[in-house]
Amino acid sequence: MPKIIFVDADGTRHEVDAKSGISIMENAIANNIDGIEAECGGSCMCATCHCFIEEEFSAGIPEIASDEDEMLGFAAEDRRPGSRLSCQVTMTDEMDGIVVNLPAEQN
Ligand code: FES
Repeated sequence: MPKIIFVDADGTRHEVDAKSGISIMENAIANNIDGIEAECGGSCMCATCHCFIEEEFSAGIPEIASDEDEMLGFAAEDRRPGSRLSCQVTMTDEMDGIVVNLPAEQN
């Protein structure tokens, strides 16, 4: 079972057993991770699942699609390298150990 390490804005780390085949957002919700709100339920329409994926893991995940790219412009915290909408990134076994930083705010 792959792991995801969610890191709060204050540096607190939460290592969770993740399920492959569902999104990082769904894994966060399933593990009660604060900092991922996902108001639209994963439809790429709210940007409250914004996260920052550590650069060393970015090569192993799919590129940003145009709708995600556009919606990232509406995120509460400024976009920066590694910004993704976690509902648009499907977890795989190969992503084991991925570090997902969370913004201080989502609204
Ligand atoms: S859950 Fe709404 S954009 Fe990801």
